[in-house]
This record gives sequence, structure tokens and C-alpha cells, in this order.
Amino acid sequence: MMWSLPQLFVLALFSISRLSITAKVALPIKRTTERWSFADFIPTNSNESIWENALIGSPRERSYASRQFPRPMIPPQKRLRAKEQMIFYQLLFTSEISIGSPPQPFIAYVDISWADLFVPSSNCTLNPKSHCSQHRRYNSTLSETYKANMTSAELSFQGLYTKGYLSQDTVHIASLNIESQIFEEATRFQAQYPNAPMDTGFGLARFRPQYVDSTVDVKSPIQNIVKQELLDTNLFSLKLPRTDAELGQLTLGGIDSRYSSASFVDLPLTNVASDDINFSRYASCGWQVEISGVSLQGPSFPEPRAALTLDLEGYTAVFSNEFDFISVPPWIGIQIQQHLHPHLGLDDELGDLPCSMRDELPNLTLYFGGGAENEIVLTPWQYLFEVNDIRKGRRCVLPFSAWMHHEWDEKSPKWILLGSAFMSGLYSVFDLDNETISFAARVD
Ligand SMILES: *[C@@H]1O[C@H](CO)[C@@H](O)[C@H](O)[C@H]1NC(C)=O
Ligand SMILES: *[C@@H]1O[C@H](CO)[C@@H](O)[C@H](O)[C@H]1NC(C)=O
Ligand SMILES: *[C@@H]1O[C@H](CO)[C@@H](O)[C@H](O)[C@H]1NC(C)=O
Ligand SMILES: *[C@@H]1O[C@H](CO)[C@@H](O)[C@H](O)[C@H]1NC(C)=O
Ligand SMILES: *[C@@H]1O[C@H](CO)[C@@H](O)[C@H](O)[C@H]1NC(C)=O
Ligand SMILES: *[C@@H]1O[C@H](CO)[C@@H](O)[C@H](O)[C@H]1NC(C)=O
Ligand SMILES: *[C@@H]1O[C@H](CO)[C@@H](O)[C@H](O)[C@H]1NC(C)=O
Repeated sequence: MMWSLPQLFVLALFSISRLSITAKVALPIKRTTERWSFADFIPTNSNESIWENALIGSPRERSYASRQFPRPMIPPQKRLRAKEQMIFYQLLFTSEISIGSPPQPFIAYVDISWADLFVPSSNCTLNPKSHCSQHRRYNSTLSETYKANMTSAELSFQGLYTKGYLSQDTVHIASLNIESQIFEEATRFQAQYPNAPMDTGFGLARFRPQYVDSTVDVKSPIQNIVKQELLDTNLFSLKLPRTDAELGQLTLGGIDSRYSSASFVDLPLTNVASDDINFSRYASCGWQVEISGVSLQGPSFPEPRAALTLDLEGYTAVFSNEFDFISVPPWIGIQIQQHLHPHLGLDDELGDLPCSMRDELPNLTLYFGGGAENEIVLTPWQYLFEVNDIRKGRRCVLPFSAWMHHEWDEKSPKWILLGSAFMSGLYSVFDLDNETISFAARVD
């Protein structure tokens, strides 16, 4: 039988579309730095103790306080020294996803320690407590694939408080179509930072995190991607942007070809539960590994110093790009801080420095899971994160911080949180089937 030209054309189109629905899709990731000064947020008649809880309390306290006050999103362990002058930077990592048929686009915070999908409803402008006019809104009447569910739901995420109903629709992530995804359609959408460029969160947690303020207990988009077998390989790779000008990349179902020949350090995932409710939020997401030590080495400024090596037998390291810093128990934090640089005091904890100081700071080596082959070295060019401050210009932020509310001795819980300051310096692969995380040096 002879193929006619139009038939061949149809055949070619068919194979192209077949190709595009399988295997591997890539999404660009944009970084936006939000800058907060404590003073900007103190209302004249404020109750200081509620404020402190909003800033440094447990996730529950912060979530409660955040419904009443706007607040900067900062890690819970920051100490409020000279707080009027303190400036906080929060990095937002976003990409675009869309919902419905035809697709309605939204800006999503890409977050490896989050699960639940939500979206501002087109009805949310009717609620006077909502700040959704500057966000994209989902109008279910415009979607042919929408199915009403109407179970009431509420959740808090990254300075947002939302309340609404469950809805069901097709979710599109690049060329992947996730059928029958249930999500919260928020008719009340209260944003502490209405200008933050974020309408929703795209969660990549392996397990739904515990102790989050959310009643949306359904399969997440990534869990449905696995269940609906949309990828050839159930893994995703992440290259976080290092500045607001650089674009990062999330690859679902594979590895960026530029890294296919890179040498990876493969770390088996662990599943250690945290009995500290303040930490369970991160520990329960499923992206954790065994860590056995940390050391700081060189350079010899202003004179040679012996390396600082800390034995972390029995510790667990948790990864989260929702958190910008590298957070350690206080007994470790104080030693790192004292070793970093002779001209930095503890007051510089989480401070931002002139970027020229990078050459005077030590390398950070992390030893994972015991084996000598499992060490990862980050230079200060990798672990300090660069921001562009409106007043001070280009600055480099020291990422080391210590957990609040814990003993200043070795009795504190054995957890280390490796946030985006750690992850941005590396290319990482999160493998859901093989239950590993792999890291490679960045090639670009
Ligand atoms: C401030 O808030 C705290 C904790 O919620 C409360 O105990 C205290 O009474 C409040 N103080 C004032 C002056 O309202
Ligand atoms: C959790 O944080 C609160 C304050 O935010 C603190 O009082 C409490 O001790 C912490 N929990 C544990 C188990 O350390
Ligand atoms: C949703 O779309 C429909 C159809 O275009 C329109 O009539 C309706 O006003 C929209 N709803 C809102 C709240 O914007
Ligand atoms: C939004 O408003 C429309 C029209 O008033 C209504 O039919 C729909 O159920 C509302 N959706 C939600 C999620 O409240
Ligand atoms: C709404 O979604 C929930 C969670 O998946 C499900 O248990 C419930 O049956 C759904 N209700 C309707 C009316 O579809
Ligand atoms: C820091 O690490 C880099 C990259 O691995 C290496 O080239 C450099 O020699 C190290 N510096 C010191 C002082 O160890
Ligand atoms: C996952 O494990 C299997 C079996 O050990 C191996 O063949 C495969 O290459 C691994 N996949 C990745 C992406 O490392």
C-alpha cells in the first residue's frame, strides 16, 4: 500500500505528538528575591510578642500569627538582634503550570517539600478579605474538563492563607496532562505579600508533609504523575537559579543531557521521623539522607587555620528549597560561625557581606552516609547566595543559621536542614523509584 502525502503528514504529526507526551519535560525556573526589613512590618500599635511569634515561632504559631499580621517569611531560628535594622531576603523559585481545558496559566512556587495544589478562584474577588486581584484566577466555567467537588478546604503556604472548596480538573505541566487532579479553589486568598509573583505551589514532596496547615489531603500532582505513568522514569532533576537573572531548570522524567556524563554522588534516602513538631514539617517530606560529618577548610586568611571538622554520627540531613539557609543545631552553628572568618562575629549570623569576601571564606565539605566517596565540597562561591540589594548593591548572604528553641549542647535533635543555599550550587536528581538523591557539580 502506498502512503499518500497527507497520510504521511498525519503519521509524522502522530509520532511527534506521541513523543511529546512521554518521557521527559523541562520547565524553566525563575528566582525572585524578596527583601524585607523588620521595621517595614511593625505596625505602630503592634504587640511585640505576637510579632516575635510571627517571625520566629513554630510553624503553627507563625501560621496563626500570619493570619493577623503581614510578616516577612524568614526561618524560625533567626535571632532578633538589632531587629529594627535587620533585613531578610527570601528567594522564590517559580515556574508556570496551567489548569483546565483550554489551559489557564498560573505562576507556581516549585517546592520539593510541599504537596497540595491550590489556586485563587475567580470568585475570590468577591471576598473582601482576599488580596487576589493581582493574581491569576481560575474560572471553572471556562474549563470543559472541570468537575465540581465542593468539599470545603483551607491551607496556609508561604505567607498565604487560603480558604475555599475542592475542585477537579486537568493540570498541565509543560506537555504533561495530569487528569482528574483535585485541588483547592480558594475563594478567600489572603496574601501577606500581594506583590509576590506566585499564584500557587507546585509541590514535589515524596510524602505529603505532616503538620502543615492544610485540609487538602489528596494525591499531589507529582503523585498523580507517577500513578498515571506519565514519565518514563519516575525522577526529576533540579538546577536552581543562582541569581534573579539566571534561569534554572526542572526536568521531570530525566536528566538534562548536559549532565548525562557528569559524575554523581548517589545517596540512599532514609525515613527517620522527627519527634519535634517544629521540624517535622521538613523531615516528613521524604527527601532526607544520612549525614556523618561536616568540615570547613581553608583559605589561609589572614593566617593559616586548622580545619574545623565535626563528627555528626547519627544525624539526618533534610533537603528543602523552601528554606534558603543551611540550618544546624546551635552547638554546630556556633563553631561554624567562629571558624568562618576572623572579622565576622556572631552578630553577623545570617548577615550579608560584600561579595569580595568570598575568597576569604573556607570551603564547606559535607560527608554523607559514611563512605569517603560520598563527600560534597561547596566553595564559598557556591554556598553564599548573591542578592541585589536596593540600597547596598550586590551582596552575598551567609547561609549558616542555628535552630532556635534548642539546647546549646550536643543534646539537641540530630537534624540538619540543607536549603537552597546548598542546592543552588549543585545539580540534583530526585529519584522516586530508586529512592535516592544524587548530586553533581554544575557544568553550567
Ligand atoms: C500580646 O500577645 C501576647 C501573646 O499572644 C499576650 O499574652 C499579651 O497579653 C498581649 N499583650 C497586649 C498588650 O495585648
Ligand atoms: C517548638 O517551638 C516552640 C516555640 O516556637 C518551643 O517552645 C518548643 O519547645 C519547640 N518544640 C520542641 C520539641 O523543641
Ligand atoms: C467566568 O467566566 C464566565 C464565562 O466567560 C463569566 O461569565 C464569568 O463572569 C466569569 N466569572 C468571574 C467570577 O469572573
Ligand atoms: C463561583 O461562582 C459561581 C457563580 O456565582 C458559582 O456557580 C460557583 O459555584 C462558585 N465557585 C466556587 C468555588 O465558589
Ligand atoms: C471530593 O474529593 C474528595 C477527596 O478526593 C473525595 O473523597 C470526595 O469523594 C470528592 N467528592 C465529590 C463530591 O466528588
Ligand atoms: C576549595 O574547593 C575547590 C573546589 O573543590 C578547590 O579547588 C580548592 O582548592 C579548595 N580550597 C581549599 C583551601 O581547600
Ligand atoms: C535505578 O536502579 C536500577 C537497578 O539498580 C538501575 O538499573 C538504574 O540505572 C537506576 N536508575 C537510575 C536513574 O540511577
